[in-house]
Amino acid sequence: MAQIKTLAEFITERQHEFTYATGELTQLLTSFRLAGKMVNREVNKAGLAEDILGAQGTENVQGEAQQKLDVYANDLFIRLLRSQGEVCAVASEENDDIVHFDNGGKYVVSMDPLDGSSNIDVNVSIGTIFSIYRRVSTGDKATMEDFMQPGTAQVAAGYIIYGSSTMLVYTTGHGVNGFTLDPSIGTFCLSHPDMRTPEEGSIYSVNEGNLYDFPAGVQRYIDDCKKQKMSARYIGSLVADFHRNLLKGGIYLYPATAKSPKGKLRLLYEANPLAMIVEQAGGVATDGAHASWTLSRPNCTSAVRCISAARGWWRRR
Ligand code: AHG
Ligand code: MN
Ligand code: MN
Repeated sequence: MAQIKTLAEFITERQHEFTYATGELTQLLTSFRLAGKMVNREVNKAGLAEDILGAQGTENVQGEAQQKLDVYANDLFIRLLRSQGEVCAVASEENDDIVHFDNGGKYVVSMDPLDGSSNIDVNVSIGTIFSIYRRVSTGDKATMEDFMQPGTAQVAAGYIIYGSSTMLVYTTGHGVNGFTLDPSIGTFCLSHPDMRTPEEGSIYSVNEGNLYDFPAGVQRYIDDCKKQKMSARYIGSLVADFHRNLLKGGIYLYPATAKSPKGKLRLLYEANPLAMIVEQAGGVATDGAHASWTLSRPNCTSAVRCISAARGWWRRR
């Protein structure tokens, strides 16, 4: 029988890869591990429990309707991060301002507590995205400077996908590893060691309903995908679309539209963490105008596999 390795064991074993103090990474990831299991429990009973399904009746700072599960997941992640002590502040899609913990923690977290939440009511995969930075400001409280660091300053990034099975995928800049939740024992177990995205992919993922809004070059590119008979796959949950393309090979795009001239995806808690993960898995991320480091390497022959016109998607170096 193959040896089973739990996420907790794996994190402990790989602690030496983390640039900063041993033990800090374990603490940081523990919150996501625990909160992920608790959100998973709520997501799985969403169809049965009236009090967890549907709209909250409020809007977030982006003017989007908050779902009850958005609010539940946000509160839970914040509660666990606050109690664990390494993180001094959080920037979340669901909060207007930075949430401060006043605990002297050396890290800040930016997160999308529930991504794809418009899909909750229709039983489609949703996720959580997180990004961890070392604090750089020195005053009493974390500031915007701590969150506005380039993507290259991320010390870890990851996502949890609540799908037909629930997985946690993360990187600390030493490759990407994936863990599947075994619901019978409530434990994430290593299922996808050293994830590498395929060199060639035949999937393109984009909201084609916006096609005539896209820049002419992107329209031509999509036309070319069709001529090459690539498969169109779009769930509308970024985590789920990204996860599928990471495993199977393909390109995900969210180009600029008239409604979202800078692209819809948010750099801080959607584009930067997923860019770090895809690059760590051998892929490429770009804002459409700037080549990422991977793409600009002279010996890189692989095509662009992950692209978004969200300004700043490209992780500045
Ligand atoms: P969120 O639910 O966190 O607000 O994110 C929604 C995002 C992302 O999950 C998805 O890829 C994208 O919105 C879909 O947008 P369109 O419906 O415009 O295609
Ligand atoms: Mn999102
Ligand atoms: Mn969200």
